[in-house]
Amino acid sequence: MLSFLSRRILAAPARLSLPQRCLSDKLFVHRDTPENNVDTPFEFTPENLERARSLISNYPVGHERAAMMPLLDLAQRQHGGWLPISAMHCVADMLKVPRMRVYEVATFYTMYNRDPIGKYHVQICTTTPCMLGGCGSGSILDTCKRVLGLKPGQTDSERLFTLSEVECLGACVNAPMVQINDDYYEDLTPEDTEAILMALKRGEKPPKPGPQSGQDWRHCCEPKGNLTSLTEPPKGPGFKVLPEL
Ligand code: FES
Repeated sequence: MLSFLSRRILAAPARLSLPQRCLSDKLFVHRDTPENNVDTPFEFTPENLERARSLISNYPVGHERAAMMPLLDLAQRQHGGWLPISAMHCVADMLKVPRMRVYEVATFYTMYNRDPIGKYHVQICTTTPCMLGGCGSGSILDTCKRVLGLKPGQTDSERLFTLSEVECLGACVNAPMVQINDDYYEDLTPEDTEAILMALKRGEKPPKPGPQSGQDWRHCCEPKGNLTSLTEPPKGPGFKVLPEL
């Protein structure tokens, strides 16, 4: 039986036009374009082919399809950050699964970009904790839109930036945040966001990722003030000797 997504992909009429804010800024359906069609050249480089085989070998015989997500990620990284339909077919052939099984995965997860994207993919989280945390993702999104001149889902003409609005990226404790390529920028203010984007626009080295709260000692999700617990190095695992009753 076809899954909900399969039916949606197959049944979507060509004239379907989704409202701007319907579920995602990406279409579930594939539309052939000169850049993205079944004839778009794609095959793994010898080095990535070796990586792909190694990934597949992590799974027991008969369950090789479990390597689908890392293989799609590998294909996307090789192809300049986006996944043409021909790369999905290559992955389907390697895993010996119907192409529809790959379409289902590639259209479900927002980390797979099914259209060409800019050199910097700016993904802003607007889920509730980021919407409410710090100065709120609304002001960060407004800053991204103003500085880049883009709306979510758009790429600039030089293919330098793509702006996407995404769901929780797992850094809620340091909200609000954006992901730019593989880097997380957290504890953002509109000023930090503008400074980061402008540095990238000027072609400078990407600014240091992580919390942008200006406290050099803060590397992860420590409190903004001083530590109130775990103030000394951990003593390592062990058993606490309980007093005899
Ligand atoms: S809600 Fe934004 S990272 Fe979780």
